[in-house]
Amino acid sequence: MVPPGAASCISLPKIPMEVTVLLNHQQGKKVSAGAIAGSVVAGVVAPVLGVLLFLFYRRRKAKQNALRLGNLATETSTILMQKVTSSATQADVASLAAGITVDKSVEFTYQELFNATEGFNITHKIGQGGFGAVYYAELVGEKAAIKKMDMQATQEFLAELKVLTHVHHLNLVRLIGYCTESSLFLVYEFVENGNLSQHLRGTDYEPLSWAERVRIALDSARGLEYIHEHTVPVYIHRDIKSANILIDKNTRAKVADFGLTKLTEVGGASLQTRVVGTFGYMPPEYVRYGDISRKVDVYAFGVVLYELISGKDAIVRPTDGSASGSRGLVYLFEEALTALDPKEGLQKLIDPKLGDDYPVDAILMMTHLANACTEEDPKLRPTMRSVVVALMTLSSMSEFWDMKNPGLVNLMSGR
Ligand SMILES: Nc1ncnc2c1ncn2[C@@H]1O[C@H](COP(=O)(O)OP(=O)(O)OP(=O)(O)O)[C@@H](O)[C@H]1O
Ligand SMILES: [Mg+2]
Repeated sequence: MVPPGAASCISLPKIPMEVTVLLNHQQGKKVSAGAIAGSVVAGVVAPVLGVLLFLFYRRRKAKQNALRLGNLATETSTILMQKVTSSATQADVASLAAGITVDKSVEFTYQELFNATEGFNITHKIGQGGFGAVYYAELVGEKAAIKKMDMQATQEFLAELKVLTHVHHLNLVRLIGYCTESSLFLVYEFVENGNLSQHLRGTDYEPLSWAERVRIALDSARGLEYIHEHTVPVYIHRDIKSANILIDKNTRAKVADFGLTKLTEVGGASLQTRVVGTFGYMPPEYVRYGDISRKVDVYAFGVVLYELISGKDAIVRPTDGSASGSRGLVYLFEEALTALDPKEGLQKLIDPKLGDDYPVDAILMMTHLANACTEEDPKLRPTMRSVVVALMTLSSMSEFWDMKNPGLVNLMSGR
């Protein structure tokens, strides 16, 4: 399935309605002065007018395309130009001049990727995910993460990839390009500071402060809101989790792997027949019935909020290693919130790495937000837009806290 955005990017301009009408005029049978005049108009003026209209329409279409893809000019123009000069044909250059983006510009050769990773050397490997291994590389002067996927790209997926390279947002990991030789490779911007799961539970990073946690939540909510509300086509991520929230050197967050679930629909497996996602993050309607809506991502985002508060995994396994007795974070928080003394229950779930360094009101607010996001009924969950608004309020409260000025926090919370 080629998404609407892709179709509009590659479709040829249609002849405008007016031109078709003028051309049909030529088919009249009776010859009269009016008809002769008409046929002169139809035979001579109309084609000229038609050509003029066609050219005008094509220029306008090209302008619109250039505007739609305008984002490219800022962030990727350097890469595009470098790639274009190295591998573009004359036709490519011509269409670029007409304002149409050249698809080739995001295609890498296998040799380029091979050289940049020293033959996919283990020293370049930065991780391993469900789809394949990830390698660090420097490509066209930019740090990149190359995902070597354990699958081939279908034609549908290739069309999808081309659209994905045009989706740009500060809080989304950018897809720089891809390669389809020998296997499928996806080339992403490199985000240098690990993922949120590693920051919360790994040993390589300093514990995140409360203000940093709120900012990470807001950043990722903004990335998610963007793909839910502002892209054509709209995307549902379907695999939101702390491992897919990458952290940059300024501890700002970017959502990774959006649009990837479409890649896994190989061989015609429909949205309804294939569950893509990670245990602990999938809402009941999705697991039970395969129902997919933006609220699937809202639910998973709620689980990430609980992780930020507690530092715990989405699924908490029994400490004695027994096979049964695992509990979802959603369940644990619900249990605490519905207890006789919710504050006491919550206190036990707050990440010990925060020490006493957090505003209680803000933690409560975030807990309630996460609770709303993980409502059983998808209709009762907020939209990502509402989540962003709530987190903005929380963020201003928490930044004041970070300035070590609890007095201001009290003032804001009306105490
Ligand atoms: N653009 C990137 N920049 C830096 N590191 C990355 C990038 N993309 C992925 N990684 C790292 O590579 C590792 C594997 O990522 P990958 O997305 O393949 O797996 P995952 O997110 O753990 O699971 P899944 O396959 O379900 O998405 C992770 O540790 C991730 O942090
Ligand atoms: Mg990932």
